[in-house]
Amino acid sequence: MNAAPKQPAPLAFGPPPETIQFWKRLVREALSLSPATPLYVFSSAPIAKRISELDAALIAAGFKSEIKNLKSQIGFRHWLSCKTQPVALLLRWWRAQGRGIEVVSEFELRAALAEGFAPEHILINGPAKHHWLPQFDLPELSVNFDSRAELDALLPLAKKLNWRLGIRLLTKEEFDPEHPQFPTQFGFAPDEAVAALNKLLRANARIETVHFHLRSNLPSAQSYERAIVEVAEICRAAKFSPRHLDLGGGVPAPQIRTRSGKVYDGQFGLDAFAQRLRQAAKLFPGLREIWLENGRFISSSSGVLVVKILDVKGRRGLRHLICDGGRTLNALMSVWEQHALIPLPERSGAQILTAVCGPTCMAFDQLARLALPRALRAGDHLIWLDAGAYHLPWETRFSHGHAAVCWQDETGLRLARERQRFENWWSDWK
Ligand SMILES: Cc1ncc(COP(=O)(O)O)c(C=O)c1O
Repeated sequence: MNAAPKQPAPLAFGPPPETIQFWKRLVREALSLSPATPLYVFSSAPIAKRISELDAALIAAGFKSEIKNLKSQIGFRHWLSCKTQPVALLLRWWRAQGRGIEVVSEFELRAALAEGFAPEHILINGPAKHHWLPQFDLPELSVNFDSRAELDALLPLAKKLNWRLGIRLLTKEEFDPEHPQFPTQFGFAPDEAVAALNKLLRANARIETVHFHLRSNLPSAQSYERAIVEVAEICRAAKFSPRHLDLGGGVPAPQIRTRSGKVYDGQFGLDAFAQRLRQAAKLFPGLREIWLENGRFISSSSGVLVVKILDVKGRRGLRHLICDGGRTLNALMSVWEQHALIPLPERSGAQILTAVCGPTCMAFDQLARLALPRALRAGDHLIWLDAGAYHLPWETRFSHGHAAVCWQDETGLRLARERQRFENWWSDWK
């Protein structure tokens, strides 16, 4: 028999009180609009805040903003990482600001087109796109090639449709984070990259961009700097001067911790990042723009997951809250991450080590294990913060349907998606 745990885990670490108040107010409003849980609540306000923080750092370092379009120096451009948070109302809100979107699949491209993005505001990334991109006859797309086979297959179309081309480079800074001894499957290795750039230059293609995406939650800006130095060497070897340096994503999400308690963005300063970038940009004569595709940093704090406690159990010193949503259905990120968890209504008094579980039949389905008030009871809600990145796209239909979604922007709060009904859950089958 397992021994009872002696020490309660620390209480959920706290975001600033104004953030807690913001979400409590919005969640109350959302629950009156859509009482069914699990429920995601998303808002544009935290996204606007993150963009302005990043903009301020980049402008202070000497870059010019894509929106203000000042006539000096190198500019920068934010692309919305569609895969991170594929919410129609977010795409509409983003497009209304005149910004572009980054997509990596046929469905994401169709979503961008359905939401009215013009092809010149769409950037296509991702592997093996020669298997689906030729069906679209879209001029002026931005396309970053990922492999030799892709380049060979798509080059004639790229020339015909005047695509703005780039290639993704596999630098030494890019590796599988779970097995750092192995590289990822993406992009051109340095020798392949020089050959690919030479081919594109010889073909008189509109090659303008070099791209990398290192990985998520980079611990410091130094990885970008080292990758940029490598990219500059490849460009020199190929006698190529890019107009755009596309850094992908990777800036860590604020407030989030690893399961062992380390703060992801602890060492990452936006000002240092921008300053290093400004220095590194000098390695590229002719560079006009830095492109950024940050997903997690931009949108993780723009959403919460709301679940309801359905049942309560206590055994061997651990209290279990069985909720109607959790890791398996709504928050796969909880495998790696700890987020703040806020009870609604507030409950005070003694705390006890508590496992917050979802409703599926898997011990894996555990959103968090931490000290929570003993007074929590069935019918109470729990708000899991920072659910605005990679929660919705990793949602499952495991024994249950998809959650409802509310969205708030300058026009107010709306139900963006109803909770999935049984008819819809089962109707795909022939
Ligand atoms: C090509 C590319 N760009 C941007 C992103 C967004 O990354 P992050 O959410 O870490 O900023 C990803 C994530 O996988 C990616 O593959």
